[in-house]
Amino acid sequence: MEAMTFVLFGATGDLAKRKIYPALYNLYLDGKLPEAFSVIGLGRREIADEKFRGNVEQSLRQFSRRSPAEGEDLTPFLSSFRYHPLDVSHPDDYRKLLGAIETRERELGLPDNRLFYLSVAPEFFDAIAVQIQESGLGSTRGWKRLIIEKPFGHDLQTARELNDNLNRAFEEDEIYRIDHYLGKTMVQNLETLVLANPVIQAVWNKEHISNVQITASETVGVEERAAYYDQAGAIRDMFQNHLLQVLMMTAMRRPSQITAGNIREEKRKIIEALRPVSKNTVQENIVRGQYAAGELGGKPVVGYANEPGIFPGSNNDTFVAARLWIDHPDWAGVPFYLRTGKRMAAKSTRIVVEFKNPTEDLYAAKNEKTAPNLLIIEINPNEKISFLFNGKSSRTEGESRIEPVEMNFWVDQSVLPEAYERLIFDALNGDATFFAHWHEVELAWQWVQPVLEAFEADLLPLHPYAAGSNGPDASDKLLQEQGHEWWLDP
Ligand code: BG6
Repeated sequence: MEAMTFVLFGATGDLAKRKIYPALYNLYLDGKLPEAFSVIGLGRREIADEKFRGNVEQSLRQFSRRSPAEGEDLTPFLSSFRYHPLDVSHPDDYRKLLGAIETRERELGLPDNRLFYLSVAPEFFDAIAVQIQESGLGSTRGWKRLIIEKPFGHDLQTARELNDNLNRAFEEDEIYRIDHYLGKTMVQNLETLVLANPVIQAVWNKEHISNVQITASETVGVEERAAYYDQAGAIRDMFQNHLLQVLMMTAMRRPSQITAGNIREEKRKIIEALRPVSKNTVQENIVRGQYAAGELGGKPVVGYANEPGIFPGSNNDTFVAARLWIDHPDWAGVPFYLRTGKRMAAKSTRIVVEFKNPTEDLYAAKNEKTAPNLLIIEINPNEKISFLFNGKSSRTEGESRIEPVEMNFWVDQSVLPEAYERLIFDALNGDATFFAHWHEVELAWQWVQPVLEAFEADLLPLHPYAAGSNGPDASDKLLQEQGHEWWLDP
């Protein structure tokens, strides 16, 4: 990996503490950072370098999956860190920053490869991108890259405006848009599971698959993010990005070669082929809900409307379920069901692929039934692939009967890098496979836009669901219309 400077906007923020510093530290432990590198942390406040390094150390002790031992000397790692105060709206501050970066580049003999990481509130994205361009920070002889976190816009139009501004300073292939779901082990594993296994590849189509269910349920509520979440809702917070990305990764067809470009091209074909909904057909295919008071883990919890900071009478969605069709010859007639919600019965991110079951009546004469084969990909909190098939029970007493049996592959979580480790490592190496390309982001907004408009115009009911449940009944009905049901709900 080439030596570089890691310029972190938002160095005192929560994401930096919880994810970015621990990720850098773990990469360092694994020998995955270049020999020489410089980290310049930026924030509004004046902080002395020593204090900043102390804060970074603190975050490693608190959040790193491999915590430094008591008394361990972290100097070799922390000596790369410097802090620089910066007001994002002051052009002068960027010029001073350029000076500070160049000084460190000279001290360490670094080439001017620069990675800019925007770990700041989205309202600052545009200003920072423009200033990177105007201050000369982005004029390097080496490479320059930008890592940016969602939200990429609030709707289709603002996403396009943001992208235009980013493009003033960065080419598309220099922009690494993080969707942390793409950093998850099992989401990355999808590609291997489907493409590297001829047996699975052979059945990955409408001939054999009845329907696909993608669930991202959470037990947490809105927490301390009321101001953001009440404006975003589940549709922007989870659906437009994470769920549609998982859908693309699940449904993409076989590329000619595994390269970042080919994978992104195949993903793009899927999102392009999503049958659009219009403001008027949203009602048939989308369910929106909001959690009401209920019980979780034996404790009563308040409804969304009574959470601190929520606008009184808010009709924000905390749950969305959708039925999507992919107008691609390989997927014709296969519904993809997606749902996500806060304050649901369990934290579970999973994909369930239900296969067609032409053998259902085969055993009628014996008064037995077969269950459909299911391939279950658990993404979070377990990381596991299971296959459910029919087998004869091995009971010794009585008649042996057909019953579903399960084959499991568990990933050893104790040795796994976190999503942020993988993604930062990839960005440092210039591998964009697991980052969201602008085409995907734009097409995802394009698909979601009529839904946003229908929500805004209150064209569909806002179903209350009890906290601790599996969401509103309407979400079950959505599947029943095709004779399906959500699998594996607690
Ligand atoms: C984030 C959302 O992108 O993903 C949060 O903003 C959500 O609201 C989180 O809780 C879920 O991520 P994970 O990795 O816990 O499934």
